[in-house]
Amino acid sequence: MMTANKRPFVFINMAMSADGKVSTVRREQLRISGTEDFERVDSLRASSDAIMVGIGTVLTDNPSLTVKSDKRREERLKSGLPENPIRVVVDSAARTPIDADILNRGAGKRIIAVSERAIVEDIGRLGEKADIMVCGEDKVNLEKLLYLLWCQGVNRLMVEGGGTLNWSLLSLGLVDEIYIYIGNMIIGGDSAPTPVGGTGFVKPDELLRLALINVEELDEGVLLRWRVLNTMRERYNGTTG
Ligand SMILES: NC(=O)c1ccc[n+]([C@@H]2O[C@H](COP(=O)([O-])OP(=O)(O)OC[C@H]3O[C@@H](n4cnc5c(N)ncnc54)[C@H](OP(=O)(O)O)[C@@H]3O)[C@@H](O)[C@H]2O)c1
Repeated sequence: MMTANKRPFVFINMAMSADGKVSTVRREQLRISGTEDFERVDSLRASSDAIMVGIGTVLTDNPSLTVKSDKRREERLKSGLPENPIRVVVDSAARTPIDADILNRGAGKRIIAVSERAIVEDIGRLGEKADIMVCGEDKVNLEKLLYLLWCQGVNRLMVEGGGTLNWSLLSLGLVDEIYIYIGNMIIGGDSAPTPVGGTGFVKPDELLRLALINVEELDEGVLLRWRVLNTMRERYNGTTG
């Protein structure tokens, strides 16, 4: 049986500008943080069992999501882990390009989570480079996906965006912590994406409440770590904040 407890610990890591944008109106990838933050993100990746992104991020940024430091990859191997965490793309229609870096750079397992609307040819094509998980009819059923990942031994899942995927996970109560780096720049633009998109909460009592874990000055910006209150896990345990 699927229960709220049978899922990994899930945290989102994103970088945004001082005005709260994660990229430009053209949705092009942007370097928002510096070298200290780069090392922090690499270390978070190395500490995770899997890293997840939405197909929107794969199509715009083409990330490889590998652990960049040789030392960190060696340490993972020494502790009996694969050198890179499992890389997971949430991609209902199996649109991940076959030459995407996530499928071709670095060793390790990849999972493309699709829905029943993905066509067999695309599944077959991607199946040569990744494991395919079919979850959900139209969009990927994220609760089911997290349960299936947990069944595969994923205890710690890092989510690296984008805002559409973040919204779904947050609004379903599937996120435990959020780490947001705020960089020293203004991006602007009404349609420039933010860390959380989607339809948004409307009523004040629907809002997701956060508890501040800590604040750290890093490079020329600030890192905020938040714990998400009233997640499904807390509701399940009866400890809603
Ligand atoms: N600064 C940062 O830290 C950072 C990090 C990551 C991304 N970004 C930026 O964010 C932008 C991309 O974000 P995005 O919001 O467009 O895309 P996204 O969140 O990466 O991917 C969203 C897509 O995932 C698929 N999906 C499947 N099932 C879903 C579900 N249940 N819930 C939500 N999505 C589901 C949908 O496409 P299908 O219907 O086709 O499946 C959806 O359009 C880019 O501009 C990128 O540069 C910034």
